[in-house]
Amino acid sequence: MDYIGISEILSQVEKTVEIELSAKRLAHCRSTAETSAFLCERFGLDVEKGRLAGIAHDMCRELVYEEQERIIAQFGSCLDRFHASPSLQALLSDPVYRKKMIHGPAAACMLCHEFGVDDADILEAIALHSIADNGASDLAKVVYIADKLEPLRQRPSDAEEMLHTLNLDALFVYTLANVVRWFQESGKSLSPYTAELYNRMLQP
Ligand SMILES: [Fe+2]
Ligand SMILES: [Fe+2]
Repeated sequence: MDYIGISEILSQVEKTVEIELSAKRLAHCRSTAETSAFLCERFGLDVEKGRLAGIAHDMCRELVYEEQERIIAQFGSCLDRFHASPSLQALLSDPVYRKKMIHGPAAACMLCHEFGVDDADILEAIALHSIADNGASDLAKVVYIADKLEPLRQRPSDAEEMLHTLNLDALFVYTLANVVRWFQESGKSLSPYTAELYNRMLQP
């Protein structure tokens, strides 16, 4: 994507989320976008792609579930290139977690179909932002981290320091560990895919 294209799309998506999202979620999306842009700068990735994926990642989060499914049914071909992704398959095939996480794939389809974004890294980052995938692109890891550690989130006291100092893989593992701990402490159930990844990456 060229920069004239991406900055125009960015301002269109910003206008859309300003209309569609509650004030709290809009603030989260803006904060995710800023954190994502910061991490892209740190890790030598495309800053504007990071900003766009961050602002758009929860674009469909406040649509009713049936509408999220309708977007997938209508424009799911936008995700055909990720068909072999085990994390996307896990997300789509588990009925419980599909309901919680389908807003990511729906947002990727909307960005692709409504805004003409065809960049694989951006679409993957948005589609997979709810499910940790250590095999995904660096941009997808950045957006996963930014979504979980942006400053408006309840986050560990050392999160800001970690965002500034850890390398990308270490920061991904740190984020995953914090997500698992948060689910354990809150009594909510973690997706089996994320739990299995955690066991693989963190257990001795
Ligand atoms: Fe989300
Ligand atoms: Fe989010």
